[in-house]
Amino acid sequence: MLVPSRSAHRSDITDADCAPQSAALPGGWIALHGIVAACAIGVCVDIAHAGAEDSPPLPQRLSETGLFSPGTTQVDPKHLSFSPQYPLWSDGAIKRRWLHVPPGATIDASNPDAWVFPPGTRLWKEFGHDRPIETRFVERLADGSWRFAAYVWNAEGTDAELAPAKGIAKLAAKGAPRGTYAVPSRDDCRTCHEGGAAPVLGVSALQLSPDRDPLAPHAEPKSAAQVDLPGLVARGILRNLPRTLIDHPPRVTASSPVARAALGYMHGNCGHCHNDVGPLASLELSLTQETALSDTAAKVLYSTLGHSSSFRPREAQPVTQRVVPGRPDSSVLMLRARSRNPMTQMPPLGTQLADDEGLALIDRWIRHELPTPTKEVTP
Ligand code: HEC
Ligand code: HEC
Repeated sequence: MLVPSRSAHRSDITDADCAPQSAALPGGWIALHGIVAACAIGVCVDIAHAGAEDSPPLPQRLSETGLFSPGTTQVDPKHLSFSPQYPLWSDGAIKRRWLHVPPGATIDASNPDAWVFPPGTRLWKEFGHDRPIETRFVERLADGSWRFAAYVWNAEGTDAELAPAKGIAKLAAKGAPRGTYAVPSRDDCRTCHEGGAAPVLGVSALQLSPDRDPLAPHAEPKSAAQVDLPGLVARGILRNLPRTLIDHPPRVTASSPVARAALGYMHGNCGHCHNDVGPLASLELSLTQETALSDTAAKVLYSTLGHSSSFRPREAQPVTQRVVPGRPDSSVLMLRARSRNPMTQMPPLGTQLADDEGLALIDRWIRHELPTPTKEVTP
């Protein structure tokens, strides 16, 4: 059963700005009424999971999560730094990320699109503008459950304190857009991290492929200090990865470099919610890329070109199609990615500002790269 969460991002929204064309919700999500259904189901949480994160209690301070070498704020060198090739846009925040897998334990990559991480796995992601503001923490517990937490850095930069479960809607933060920064609620963490095949989003075959996409927006250049797919295999941390992915590192198969980058961008920024295995599967909007599929682009094309839109922003009433080849301004996907009206924007969580670089890429993809309507697209 699903209930709406008190999202840090939406707590102050009272106005209904979204005009749903359908009150029927994708499988598993419940509606309080039509408008909530259409606009706020991105901030629902599975209450079956609620509470799991309270036992054992979360550490009160970041230093107690094991990120640092004891007594310092230096990241323990035994943790592996990594950088996904298609990062999530978070209002231009600068990010650093680390992975810890307990000694002797391994990640099972038998399913290359849904890696299974061992209990004891920990991951951290630091967000900053002028200085570190928040560090997020994900841990797999001994019973197999996952827990999520956010830590907010103190002014001195000596440690970070556990943020409340409901997040912090507005944190004053120098360098952040409009001087404010939002810490997501733990329900929001789960909405994104438990919306697809695996709860870890940036440590995957495609995201850590050494065949990095040179057009990926906001990606860091490949660095020798950061672990990639072969690096995980070489360290003995990853087992059962299909041999072909070592011989031929995964990449988005697409008709052009721009299409590759646009599909990769949507994988990194949209695919954790829009896929065909998670709670939103019945929307039939698949923006994720699967390394196991030989033609990863076909599914995206089928679910965007082949579908009219059920959830359209009010300002785009005449627009009916998810994507119209050649016409970004007539494509609901583009309008929703461009919108920063909290009730219609995509992604619905985690940003105050639209991502101009990502939007320019999607614009080029729709304008120049898509098959003309006469060409048949099949899944
Ligand atoms: C809007 C969706 C979204 C929300 C909300 C969100 N995350 Fe993430 N998170 C992502 C994506 C996508 C990645 C991988 C891409 C990247 O790091 O740029 C990621 C990466 C991470 C990582 C690095 C490990 C990994 O999965 O790649 C951690 C740790 C993390 N998030 C913790 C959290 C915590 C804790 C919260 C809540 C306080 C949270 N996240 C909220 C989407 C989200
Ligand atoms: C945190 C989860 C989440 C993320 C991330 C997300 N979406 Fe959505 N999206 C939703 C939900 C929930 C809906 C259905 C309710 C609504 O329309 O608001 C939706 C609806 C849509 C629709 C309308 C579908 C229809 O048939 O009318 C489009 C188009 C869309 N999203 C595109 C995107 C794009 C593009 C991205 C990435 C830039 C993205 N979304 C990221 C949750 C998400």
